[in-house]
Amino acid sequence: MARITLDGSSAGSEAGEDIYRGLETGDILYFPTTPFVLTAEEQSVLLAQKQAETSLHKNISYRPAQDRLKGIDQSDTAEWKRVHGVMRDYSQRAIAFMASFLSRYARDWKVDYASFRPIEEQGRNVSHRSRNDLIHVDSFPSRPSHGDRLLRIFTNINPERPRIWVTSDSFETLAWQYAGKARLPRRPSPLRAIGSRALRVLSGAGLPVVDRPPYDQFMLRFHHYLKENEAFQRDCPKDRWEFPPGSSWIVFTDTTSHACLSGQYALEQTFIVRRGSLAFPERSPIAILEGMTGFPLAASGAKSA
Ligand SMILES: [Fe+2]
Repeated sequence: MARITLDGSSAGSEAGEDIYRGLETGDILYFPTTPFVLTAEEQSVLLAQKQAETSLHKNISYRPAQDRLKGIDQSDTAEWKRVHGVMRDYSQRAIAFMASFLSRYARDWKVDYASFRPIEEQGRNVSHRSRNDLIHVDSFPSRPSHGDRLLRIFTNINPERPRIWVTSDSFETLAWQYAGKARLPRRPSPLRAIGSRALRVLSGAGLPVVDRPPYDQFMLRFHHYLKENEAFQRDCPKDRWEFPPGSSWIVFTDTTSHACLSGQYALEQTFIVRRGSLAFPERSPIAILEGMTGFPLAASGAKSA
């Protein structure tokens, strides 16, 4: 895994093919200086958020499509409004930057949630599967991607300390080594295929069921498998990265295996990139897995909700 360092001038125009290739195959695009504005005042509003470790929500999240803020006490209306405004502005600027820099994705992407992570990552008391300090690839339990990709931009707004990541091999390498052990999907029986179609119809009609195709079932299983595999966590090849205050980085977190060892106060905006928008769709996790299984793992044309 490599970290491709980009300066401000490359952020002003669309990425070239080599950048798309690196990103889609697991490299980190790194901006020592964040390529969009975050004022000192906005940052101080966020830095004042001291979430209790016992908080129900580990992050403050913002949903751009609904303009909705979650994870913060609503009884202090003035403070809630301030944070809401900052998260909305941050999200809009991150989206605008990504849409110009990675424009081939923006034509058909789904803008997902933004989040602010106010808790120190080191030594957090969370369940094993929620630990960020164990190497994994991302899979969203409540929002199956149906083979589309998880693209995220992170920004470290900690005034003093870097955010420390460790990465290991890309999904492609890990899949060849571990996908069988994590139980690759089996060809569905005709009965199960009918059940999956029914689930898709119900989900499409807005009913509260999660339509999770074999691809997403596997990716969730793989996420858990990697975190629970002590030998892998101990022995896998590792690269350590420091992201200093004021820097940003872009990653396909379903391909770049990663762990966050320490750091506090990071902003993040997620995008669901359609398979059809990728520069190298044959290198996507679903294409790699379908090459192994020999049958489709998500209905073609199905779009994540
Ligand atoms: Fe992650």
